[in-house]
Amino acid sequence: MNQLLNFRREYSATEFSEENALHDPFQQFKNWLNDAVQSGIEDANAMVLSTAGKDLKPKSRIVLLKNVNSEGLSFFTNYNSNKALQIEENPNVSLLFPWQLLDRQVRIEGTAEKVSPEESDEYFISRPEGSRIGAWASPQSRIIPSRKYLEEIEQELKAKFIARSLPRPLYWGGYRVIPELFEFWQGRSNRLHDRLEYYRNNGNWKIRRLAP
Ligand SMILES: Cc1cc2nc3c(=O)[nH]c(=O)nc-3n(C[C@H](O)[C@H](O)[C@H](O)COP(=O)(O)O)c2cc1C
Repeated sequence: MNQLLNFRREYSATEFSEENALHDPFQQFKNWLNDAVQSGIEDANAMVLSTAGKDLKPKSRIVLLKNVNSEGLSFFTNYNSNKALQIEENPNVSLLFPWQLLDRQVRIEGTAEKVSPEESDEYFISRPEGSRIGAWASPQSRIIPSRKYLEEIEQELKAKFIARSLPRPLYWGGYRVIPELFEFWQGRSNRLHDRLEYYRNNGNWKIRRLAP
């Protein structure tokens, strides 16, 4: 794969400066998310979630952002999965939105906590029936003997229940990441990219610039 060495391009997008950055990082994030959706990036809400448990070995995977407001950013998953076990051991997590089509990336650091059971119920019942059955059928992150094993569980559930009537499994629900830090990265020419970091200072968000 020697050609990897030659994979490079110039980033020439517009600047992201202290002058045009919004004061509220959540609003700034929502603007960039909106730009990502409008630009046609598929799964613009896909984010890399990194966690590290007691063994200090980081694990990363993609999850889908399902809600963002001034409290935090939420996603849904299995509370017995590896990510959930790691969050239980250490709630510090990092999120990454890779929006390369716009020469942008957003990094977020914060702590994850479970959303309320009501919020998880509300999202669970909004999901397509197949996804609801899937949540019951899959012991996420556990070793299973075969694909057939999963399909048999799915068939059994379909035969026994009307998917619409399936309640949320107690081991399935949401997490909210409460940010302590946001970094907005905008690619610029000659590798002199714009990096603005929002951090908390006495309860207020402040902005500082990082070298690219
Ligand atoms: C595009 C995409 C979206 C995904 N969205 C989710 C999600 O919202 N929730 C989830 O639990 N897993 C999602 N996954 C699967 C995870 O990446 C991961 O395989 C799974 O959650 C198990 O991770 P763990 O064993 O580290 O807990 C998604 C995968 C991809 C590729």
